[in-house]
Amino acid sequence: MNNELLKGLVEQINLEMQSAYIYLGMSTYLNEADLPGFSQWMMAQAHEEMEHAMRIYKFLQERGEHIELFAFEQVSVNYDGVLEVFEESLKHEKFVTAAIDKLMNIAYDVRDFSAMGMLQWFVDEQVEEEDNFNGAIAQIKLAGGKGSPMLMLDRGFGKRQG
Ligand code: FEO
Repeated sequence: MNNELLKGLVEQINLEMQSAYIYLGMSTYLNEADLPGFSQWMMAQAHEEMEHAMRIYKFLQERGEHIELFAFEQVSVNYDGVLEVFEESLKHEKFVTAAIDKLMNIAYDVRDFSAMGMLQWFVDEQVEEEDNFNGAIAQIKLAGGKGSPMLMLDRGFGKRQG
């Protein structure tokens, strides 16, 4: 595999795992803020990010490439309310989308068709990810960020399975 592409994919494993860690920090904050539904939603998101990392990990293993695993950065468990949590998440997802697009560009340049196929799943997934966070932000704003509408919203978010 092209070296630049391999380096980028190995870094993407780390970025996906770091994403899981960021969302775990957010889930921790939301739990401590007595919002168990939002906390559970964010925990499910953390699990999903680990699955994303494993998709790339498995792909590189199947291609017989050498994989390195990097350290995570410390993450925040302190936020200024649930709206800030979701706005920060959306910002992070946009960063991830840019990283995926960059990898797809490299794969395209070197005509690595199997990498392109694997990355296309992520291109589609990022549309869904940004849409999920945009939708959550809109609902939180509609609920006004406090009182019984927020408690009802919290209950709804708690129903997320995967
Ligand atoms: Fe794996 Fe939310 O990007």
